Amino acid sequence: MFVNFRRLRRYKWVQLAMTCLVLSLMMVCWEQLDSSSVSHIKSYSYRHLINRYAFINESFTIPRQEARAFRDYRYLLNHPGKCSSEKRVLLLLLVKSSPENFGRRRAIRSTWGNETYIRQALGATVKVVFVLGLAKQREGAYGRRSRGGGGGIQDDLTREDHWHGDLVQQDFVDSFHNLTLKLLLQFRWAHDHCPRARFLMTADDDVFVHMPNVVRYLQDADRRGATDLWVGRVHRGAPPVRHKGSKYYVPPEMYPWASYPDYTAGAAYVVSGDVAEKVYQASLTLNASLYIDDVFMGICASAAGVSPQEHVYFSGEGRAPYHACIYDKMMTSHGHVVDIHQLWKAATDPEVKRVTSGPFGRLYCAAVRLSLLCRPYFFNTYPCKAAFA
Ligand SMILES: *[C@@H]1O[C@H](CO)[C@@H](O)[C@H](O)[C@H]1NC(C)=O
Ligand SMILES: *[C@@H]1O[C@H](CO)[C@@H](O)[C@H](O)[C@H]1NC(C)=O
Ligand SMILES: *[C@@H]1O[C@H](CO)[C@@H](O)[C@H](O)[C@H]1NC(C)=O
Ligand SMILES: *[C@@H]1O[C@H](CO)[C@@H](O)[C@H](O)[C@H]1NC(C)=O
Repeated sequence: MFVNFRRLRRYKWVQLAMTCLVLSLMMVCWEQLDSSSVSHIKSYSYRHLINRYAFINESFTIPRQEARAFRDYRYLLNHPGKCSSEKRVLLLLLVKSSPENFGRRRAIRSTWGNETYIRQALGATVKVVFVLGLAKQREGAYGRRSRGGGGGIQDDLTREDHWHGDLVQQDFVDSFHNLTLKLLLQFRWAHDHCPRARFLMTADDDVFVHMPNVVRYLQDADRRGATDLWVGRVHRGAPPVRHKGSKYYVPPEMYPWASYPDYTAGAAYVVSGDVAEKVYQASLTLNASLYIDDVFMGICASAAGVSPQEHVYFSGEGRAPYHACIYDKMMTSHGHVVDIHQLWKAATDPEVKRVTSGPFGRLYCAAVRLSLLCRPYFFNTYPCKAAFA
């Protein structure tokens, strides 16, 4: 009896454990199913059935005076004359940085963001500006506010700016949920201080920009007289993230619909000067409380009647494979901090041209790109179709 009871209990434990396992597997899978497939199907059909975002314009439009509140931050550091000394600016490059990222800015200035190099080696005028907010106050170990948090960093920023003259800072707290304020800052600054720049690019400070390729691409676009240009990695009909744990969570009160208007991944994208101006004008009457900055850009653009174009060699979240055949085509790649010097050296090495040119080089690179970009389960970089571009 006693033994049976124990056996029964053990059996029950196993049963209970199995049930739990199955249930949790189901929950995990359901979550996956729910958050990716179902919402993608929903948003896809939504986008293709409705495919108009006029409602966005209506529901986000607020009176101009009220919209001012999102832009009326004071400049702590600024360089209004940055563009005015130039006859012609091909590209205004705004790098979204954060106060504490001194090292990243230093690395960018000496690699892809080196204006002198771009002028001498590529024959183009590119103006590089870092945009930031205020350093967050640091919480002390016991929840006390530690001394200095912002103060020390702010002094260092002033020194850095004195030396390089390329920081633009407003007095909002530099945080993920304030990225839309940073977006507004960029378009406002471009409108006020660099209105004649032919193109505007915005990039995160952990993005690698293949400047020679980008400049060549923009010089071509300029010769074609390109306008209405907005190019990057496009998210089409992406659904809002609705699970609360996510960094990208957006409550239904803020955005009730099943999909966002098309937008380009915020890591890096380019717009032509006319689009920058239209987006700025649209932003003057929009409610900017939606804190996902690239989605908000999509909303501004849809209000301005502009839609994005895909370029397969702009990366979204992912990092590009390290290979000469990739460097030959690469525009941007995301997630480079410690390897930026090495990558810059490798990507701009004359060897790249030698390897990739000629009939044999092209054939070789076609094979390499196919094998690097078209592997199953190898997401997060350029899409497979980039191998055929
Ligand atoms: C930028 O490039 C120029 C010309 O190639 C070079 O002389 C200069 O040292 C570079 N600047 C930095 C910060 O590396
Ligand atoms: C955004 O910046 C404003 C102004 O500094 C600040 O009051 C607010 O707390 C910040 N929001 C977030 C989410 O950090
Ligand atoms: C902007 O939208 C939010 C909801 O996302 C709302 O709470 C807020 O009141 C709106 N702001 C204005 C000025 O209408
Ligand atoms: C959006 O709304 C504003 C003001 O209501 C209007 O002037 C503008 O033309 C609208 N844009 C589009 C694309 O419908």
